Amino acid sequence: MNYRTLGKTGLKISEVGFGAWGIGKTAWIGADDQESLKALDRSIELGLNFIDTAIGYGDGHSERLVGEIARKHAGKIYVASKIPPKNGQWPARAGVTAEEAFTAEHVIASTEQSLRNLGLETIDIQQFHVWSDEWVGKGDWLEGVQKLKEQGKIRFFGVSINDHQPNNAIKLIESGLVDTVQVIYNIFEQSPEDMLLPACIKHDIGVIVRVALDEGGLTGKITAETEFDKSDFRNHYFKNDRKREVYDRVQQIAADLNISVDDMAEKALRYVLSHPAVSTVIPGMRSITNVERNMKVGDGLGLSQDQLAKLKAHRWIRNFYQ
Ligand SMILES: NC(=O)c1ccc[n+]([C@@H]2O[C@H](COP(=O)([O-])OP(=O)(O)OC[C@H]3O[C@@H](n4cnc5c(N)ncnc54)[C@H](OP(=O)(O)O)[C@@H]3O)[C@@H](O)[C@H]2O)c1
Repeated sequence: MNYRTLGKTGLKISEVGFGAWGIGKTAWIGADDQESLKALDRSIELGLNFIDTAIGYGDGHSERLVGEIARKHAGKIYVASKIPPKNGQWPARAGVTAEEAFTAEHVIASTEQSLRNLGLETIDIQQFHVWSDEWVGKGDWLEGVQKLKEQGKIRFFGVSINDHQPNNAIKLIESGLVDTVQVIYNIFEQSPEDMLLPACIKHDIGVIVRVALDEGGLTGKITAETEFDKSDFRNHYFKNDRKREVYDRVQQIAADLNISVDDMAEKALRYVLSHPAVSTVIPGMRSITNVERNMKVGDGLGLSQDQLAKLKAHRWIRNFYQ
């Protein structure tokens, strides 16, 4: 497993990290706790040292599983978690004030609850689960973040950027107040390359890539016939004709690269790791099989210039979260 520096935090983290939304068991249906713990354990055995969770993933359930594993491998794992917006609105809408989303009091109370869920004394990266650049210099959220840092309850501060709005954190990055950003970046969603990723390199900001597999679309495993549990959020994400549309595009990508659709997940992870701004990619994985497949990607072998050039043509502007 290769390791990269997470921007100015200086932490050396594995190129492949663990996305722990699915194991939280809300929004994603079908996880089994024992299987999730085994998947986490196996990933660590294979060199993974970075896990991304949130208080919102199963109302602390994901944090409790992650904490169990982090305590078992004490001192070897970096944990990132997230503070939900106080108004419960995802994503942050234009015009919502800093006070409505993140007050110092809320930032501190939510972090203390996360520490209890995790059973840890400190969170390595604490992130805001939504962000709006309108909040730079507004409200008292920064005082909350600074107090938590002073008390050693968090080490570094990051934000998870709103879906498909990569430029809505550039003001924050330029302010010097943030250590890391988390962003959607994949073969379809290439827009972070335009402004965000160059800004992260310039200001030495750690970049955590989420949804590199397009919520499963870029694995080639979702076809027009795939059915999800009625409470699974992917029923909405892949609604109407979207499964067929995604699968058709995946087949075109596979044909362009002259690969089997079965190799799509590997190429999708390698695509984002090919960008020098990226510190880690955090696929969601709930099985040992997927862990073992994905850990292989941390071997430092990128894609060829020819493959990268071909993938540039597959940029696709859309928002399936709506
Ligand atoms: N707003 C936010 O801050 C936000 C939003 C979304 C996600 N995130 C973070 O980003 C992480 C990643 O996003 P995500 O989990 O939503 O989506 P994702 O990583 O794009 O896709 C996850 C899906 O891909 C499947 N998968 C993983 N590796 C595979 C492989 N090698 N072959 C075939 N299928 C494979 C998983 O299956 P199994 O689960 O069955 O193993 C799961 O169905 C989350 O877990 C979370 O930590 C943050």
